[in-house]
Amino acid sequence: MRVQNQACTAITMTDCQTLPTNLYPDSEDVHVWWASLSPSRQDITSWVAHLSADERDRADRYRFARDRTRFVVGRGLLRILISRYLDLAPRQVQFAYGPYGKPSLAGAEDDLTFSLAHSDDLAVYAFSRKRDIGVDLEYVRPLEDMGDIAARFFSPDEAAALAALPQPQQLDVFYHIWTCKEAYLKALGAGLSLPLDAFDVAVNPQEPARLLRVGLDRSDEPGRWTLLRLASREHYAAALSVNGPVARIVRRASDVTHRLTDVTFGG
Ligand SMILES: CC(C)(COP(=O)(O)OP(=O)(O)OC[C@H]1O[C@@H](n2cnc3c(N)ncnc32)[C@H](O)[C@@H]1OP(=O)(O)O)[C@@H](O)C(=O)NCCC(=O)NCCS
Repeated sequence: MRVQNQACTAITMTDCQTLPTNLYPDSEDVHVWWASLSPSRQDITSWVAHLSADERDRADRYRFARDRTRFVVGRGLLRILISRYLDLAPRQVQFAYGPYGKPSLAGAEDDLTFSLAHSDDLAVYAFSRKRDIGVDLEYVRPLEDMGDIAARFFSPDEAAALAALPQPQQLDVFYHIWTCKEAYLKALGAGLSLPLDAFDVAVNPQEPARLLRVGLDRSDEPGRWTLLRLASREHYAAALSVNGPVARIVRRASDVTHRLTDVTFGG
């Protein structure tokens, strides 16, 4: 897999105070934001102030301070970002939740859609208009039982293609498959109600990311979806899935527009 080691620029609380409003994405654009979830202790109070009562309750239920901090900062940042898209205060943002827990904006008047993922201390947020969107991010750590996990969670074709690769390539490709599958699931909001072996993603590291096959009654799905690998920080894998064509990925943190070839691996 050819990995583009272009470091992602993470936003900070200070950046948030100067974010522009009226950020709305163009109809075929996706905005991607990266953030570190490890702010200084002093920052935490400001992030908590943005949360709703139920989010504070959820934060209190985390057993470890580190997980609590990551949730508070991650959710606080989500509210700040949405507030800039919709031009309202972060506390005014209201979420609705799908049957498997996918958050969306409550109220039908906005066509802004979003997805977020976090792993270790990095988070990624993706925004689009009217599209089902899913993003996934994983910290790439060596897995002794990688083959067992692939056999259990991947489709038979994916697991076989992974096993056939030279051993040094397998870890990166494993996380590529994992994040692509998870990004598609997250766009659907289906949780694990859609069996993970009911669809295939492209495994070949020389090919662009792609949804290849969806079983059950969804055989026309692959043509409707865009699947992309996102270049993130070193030691992380990330993927994005969008229901429809994507013209541009806009990295909003640094406000730089990248052509798709700049932000994907392989291809
Ligand atoms: C719920 C799920 C999204 C959890 O994924 P995860 O890897 O633990 O967490 P991520 O960092 O990717 O995403 C978390 C965010 O996804 C969102 N989310 C929650 N449920 C979701 C759903 N059903 N669909 C889409 N997004 C969802 C939330 O915003 C959440 O953030 P929050 O915790 O701050 O509220 C779900 O897909 C899941 O349980 N997957 C199991 C993992 C698995 O077996 N994957 C196999 C891939 S081959």
